[in-house]
Amino acid sequence: MARIFSGMAPSGFPTLGNYLGATRNWVKLQAQGDCIYCIVDQHAITNFQNPTELREKTRVMAAILLASGIDPEKHILFHQSAVPAHARLAWIFNCVARIGWLNRMTQFKDKAGKDREAVSTGLYVYPNLMAADIHAYHATLVPVGDDQRQHLELANDIAEKFNFDYGVKFFPRIEAMIPAETARIMSLRDGTKKMSKSDPSDQSRINLNDDSDTIALKIRRAKTDPEPLPADPSGLAGRPEATNLVTIYAAMTDQTPAAVLQNLAGAGFGAFKEKLADALIAHIAPIKTETERLLNDPAHIDSILQAGARRAAAIADPIVDEAERIVGFLPRGP
Ligand code: AMP
Ligand code: TRP
Repeated sequence: MARIFSGMAPSGFPTLGNYLGATRNWVKLQAQGDCIYCIVDQHAITNFQNPTELREKTRVMAAILLASGIDPEKHILFHQSAVPAHARLAWIFNCVARIGWLNRMTQFKDKAGKDREAVSTGLYVYPNLMAADIHAYHATLVPVGDDQRQHLELANDIAEKFNFDYGVKFFPRIEAMIPAETARIMSLRDGTKKMSKSDPSDQSRINLNDDSDTIALKIRRAKTDPEPLPADPSGLAGRPEATNLVTIYAAMTDQTPAAVLQNLAGAGFGAFKEKLADALIAHIAPIKTETERLLNDPAHIDSILQAGARRAAAIADPIVDEAERIVGFLPRGP
């Protein structure tokens, strides 16, 4: 069975973009391999986090994942900081990756903006820690959204250089799994911008904790164009907002966009938005209810994450021990 690894930052309540681009895929993949899912709290502090809020957001993320259908018994769900193997391997990777490689990371450029001198060094080496997350388990399949493609290429470059420098075949190649149809869910206000938690307008996104009325309202207000739905996807060319709504509806109803358009060709956006809102509410309302139930018992969530961390460490520790031996560190000892 393939070993599947992925990570998600504890950013509180995820958006529909996170859900369709990542979470839902994580749930489905449980049928295809042994899955290790990590809430990356160490990545989170590359930007300052209020400590109380970070704890809260980590639990919220765990609850959402459990409510969405992650099975913590058959698979592994844990928080990154609880397994020191990640940081140990990340240090080695800091010494393998080249500054020139990190300078090419577009996410760093986006996140750092103009004031590159003022961001944390952690933000800069963030992709090295991400590579360590994956390679600490010898995982080979990594489900992510499209925006993480470059980081996974870097993870392969790091593994290749490690193997070459030390003359070993220790770290395997990893493969990105990027869901094609829903790889990028766009803002409801601007179809050329990614739907994001950090967008200042709450109207631009659906949050997984939005109640039904809020979802209906946001969809009603979502930007569209005056044309009706076309008969096939070619009629969506140059219509980013229409494309996005069709993509979301297709994902919610488990159809291809082509199948959606076949059924709804000629419909106006007024009627279509009502169907879309109903589909979203039917899908999201049960997840929200279960998440709230789980959050009533934070100690239970913590115990699930801690049990996951123990099982994760049992896999990662021997692999990282071996990586440290390969680079020439003396044994840690018992
Ligand atoms: P982030 O919220 O940026 O930490 O992303 C967490 C996961 O959700 C990553 O795998 C992203 O690629 C994915 N993701 C975030 N926003 C979107 C979006 N608008 N569409 C598709 N996937 C997304
Ligand atoms: N950087 C990823 C994101 O922004 C999260 C992440 C951290 C991750 N470590 C990972 C994803 C390892 C896949 C594998 O979404």
